[in-house]
Amino acid sequence: MEQEVLAILSQVIHPAKDADILNLGMVEDVRVEDGKIKFRLVSSSPDPLMGSIKKQCEALLKETFPEYKVSIIELVREKKTKKPLQLGQEQLANVGKIIAVASGKGGVGKSTVATNLAIALAKAGYKVGLTDADVYGPSVPKMTGTEGEIPDVEQNESGELILPIERFGVKWMSIGYFATPEQALIWRGPMACNALKQMVLQVKWGELDYLLIDLPPGTGDIHISMVHDIPLSGAVIVSTPQDVALADVLKGVNMFRNKDINVPILGLVENMAWFTPAELPQNKYYIFGKEGGVKMARQLGIDLLGQIPIYMSIRENGDLGTPDTIPEWADLAAEVVKRS
Ligand SMILES: Nc1ncnc2c1ncn2[C@@H]1O[C@H](COP(=O)(O)OP(=O)(O)OP(=O)(O)O)[C@@H](O)[C@H]1O
Ligand SMILES: [Mg+2]
Repeated sequence: MEQEVLAILSQVIHPAKDADILNLGMVEDVRVEDGKIKFRLVSSSPDPLMGSIKKQCEALLKETFPEYKVSIIELVREKKTKKPLQLGQEQLANVGKIIAVASGKGGVGKSTVATNLAIALAKAGYKVGLTDADVYGPSVPKMTGTEGEIPDVEQNESGELILPIERFGVKWMSIGYFATPEQALIWRGPMACNALKQMVLQVKWGELDYLLIDLPPGTGDIHISMVHDIPLSGAVIVSTPQDVALADVLKGVNMFRNKDINVPILGLVENMAWFTPAELPQNKYYIFGKEGGVKMARQLGIDLLGQIPIYMSIRENGDLGTPDTIPEWADLAAEVVKRS
């Protein structure tokens, strides 16, 4: 039976190290007794992914041996005083407003809006942080030119905390700093959910006026779990003007309006509203339809926060990891401040 347990545990891959936890020597003292599967999960230094790995071990073992209880003891060898991680809201104590940037639909520019809004708020003098809550396609490291950076981890009396990466006056956090999208793809639901919550709750944010959360596309379990466990003060919805986007946007809006969640919608950002070529500055081409966002906001009973045109510079700066300087971002930041 111990051998079977070991075989199951060999399927658990450490998301940042590309090796399974047995090969990494993280599993010790496996015992099966009195209807319980017990073992120690060991790391040689504080590891922010331990909680997620533990959850995955539990999920796999419970699936294969449903009649057994699973008891895993987490241990950091060097720091004998380490307390088990408790994901509470202590790190949000000095955070003012927590705002989700969401959309039912993918690829509409949520991450672009969230990142540029964060930078614009910081330029306006606010203390700002942003969490990229997209496990399977994190874009903040690339968009902010912080790809490859590794956040420091600090040990304090309440456990270990991740220090955000600071750039352009904003504190950034993303699962992309810990694992590549290919590594994250193999994570199962509970592990992805837990890792995301860590990206908000286990980060040493310090004092912030605004914490933005760039939600992944869709309205699935990850979203429900996030909006349920994080005390959001409002949501900004992003959409392109296309008619086909309306149904998805409605799903996104309804998720926040659900009576158990009940997060106020600050308004809608119409992204890719029109295209103006640099050589014809008077011309506006409504590639995805004219005023679709305006109509959508009216139909949904929410405010229009702003219209962002298609600019080459937005895409280029996003790819280069440099901030964009178009005035629309500052206007959008002012609208968000007014309504939050
Ligand atoms: N207004 C714009 N003008 C030009 N390019 C834009 C604009 N908005 C977004 N883009 C580009 O469109 C692409 C998709 O944007 P982004 O990644 O922000 O969308 P998303 O909604 O976050 O996507 P996902 O659903 O995958 O998370 C990016 O390459 C981005 O640079
Ligand atoms: Mg995105």
